[in-house]
This record gives sequence, C-alpha cells and structure tokens, in this order.
Amino acid sequence: MKIVAYNGSPKGKKSTTHIMLNEVLKGAMEQGAEVVNYTLSEKNINHCKGCLHCWYVNKNECIINDDMNEAISYFQDMDILILATPLYFDNVSGMLKVFLDRCIAYGSYFIEKDENNESKHLDSFKEKHGGKQAPRIVVICNGGFAEQSQFQAIEFMMDRMARNMSTEVVAKIFRGQGPLLSMGSNEQLKPIIENYKRLLRQAGRDIASKGIITDAIQIELDKELIPIDVYNSNINNR
Ligand SMILES: Cc1cc2nc3c(=O)[nH]c(=O)nc-3n(C[C@H](O)[C@H](O)[C@H](O)COP(=O)(O)O)c2cc1C
Repeated sequence: MKIVAYNGSPKGKKSTTHIMLNEVLKGAMEQGAEVVNYTLSEKNINHCKGCLHCWYVNKNECIINDDMNEAISYFQDMDILILATPLYFDNVSGMLKVFLDRCIAYGSYFIEKDENNESKHLDSFKEKHGGKQAPRIVVICNGGFAEQSQFQAIEFMMDRMARNMSTEVVAKIFRGQGPLLSMGSNEQLKPIIENYKRLLRQAGRDIASKGIITDAIQIELDKELIPIDVYNSNINNR
C-alpha cells in the first residue's frame, strides 16, 4: 500500500494541515504503508497556462519546466492519494488548486459516459499503469469556522473531481476550529488535541488496512473540539 499526500497549505510544515496529515500518515505507517508527505509550499509549481500543448501537441508533456514532474513522479504506483488543504473561501487553497490544474497534463482528453450517462474524461490511469485502478482519494481539510457544514463546497468539488478521474473519495477528514490544533501548549486544550490526534492516527490505520475510515471513528472525528459559542466568543474577544 503506497499513500502519497500533497499538503496545499502555504504555511507548509508550520500549518494545521501538516499537524493533521502527520498523524494520519503515522497511523498508516504503523500498518506498514509506504508514505510520501509532499509539501507543495516548498516547491516551485507554476500556474497552468491553458495552452493544452499536453493534449494536442505532445501527449502528457507540459511545456512548463518546474517541480511538477517531480511532484507527479509519485503517481506511478500510489494506491491512495491524499489531498490536504486549509479551507480558503469554502474551497481548496490556491496552492492546491494550482497543483490540481497542472495534473491535466497527465489525464486523457478523450470523453466517455459514466454510469449516469454523464460525460467525463476517459480513465487514463488504467491505460498508463497496466490496468491499475486510479488511486482512491482521501481529503483532509481544516478551516477557521467551527461548523462541519463549512466543508460542503469542498466535499462536492472533491466528489466531482474524483468522478472525472474514474475514482472515488473514500475518506473525508474535515476539521472546523482547525487553529485550535496548533495550541497544544494550552493546558486546557492539550487533552482535547491529544484525543483528536489519536483519532487521526486511527483513521490512518483504517485507511491503510481497510481503505476507508470506520463509521465509529468518522463520528468521533466530526465532533466539535470545544463548544462553538465558546470558540466564537474566544475569537471575538481576542
Ligand atoms: C485566504 C483565506 C481564506 C480563508 N477562508 C476560510 C473559509 O472560507 N472558511 C473557514 O472556515 N476558514 C477560512 N480561512 C481560515 C483557515 O482555513 C484557517 O486559518 C486554517 O486553520 C488554516 O490552515 P493551515 O494552518 O493548515 O494553513 C481562510 C484563511 C485564509 C488565509
């Protein structure tokens, strides 16, 4: 089992995204998974120019010479793709979106219909990797607002993207009140954060061993860390 995670926070290893990702990957490694933790903020990945040279001129070759070739070199043999991002304007960060846009170079431009008779791109992964199933997707996202409802748009976007990639999102780890996770030196928050990290490690073990997160762990992961009104008033009175 190979798991490749892309961290799309501009804060890189200082981000809440990193804290979450780190625990999930620790759990996965405990189950023997091979993991790659790829921090996009440390790389030079430029915007897609939209020229479609990669589709119409040289198949799968991007004209931009930057770290994207290295970034996608892990696609070869991965089983699980983790997309980790802070919630920015209800969506993925610009940094993760730039990376995703650049992935167009490695997809197929041919069109087929899915099981609902809706058009999508052809599954290019199978063709390129000897019939191997496209990697299943795990989404990790944290936001500043407290409610789990804040993640509706990113959830929808990820499901749509997976459909187009002939795969599925197998786990969604969404964390409202995300900034609390970097406040581990606070004595009151410490046990709450430690408990949440324990759940993340369990989620990582589940993903590596079963390919999904069990319902019981998902329910625990979705619980608020502290009461929403307390969280909001702490922010408002800062
Ligand atoms: C440009 C920008 C947009 C943001 N938009 C949202 C948002 O729509 N919803 C939300 O809950 N938090 C939003 N936030 C707050 C971040 O999601 C929050 O601070 C998060 O903990 C940052 O995670 P990181 O440390 O992993 O980068 C936004 C922050 C920034 C800088």
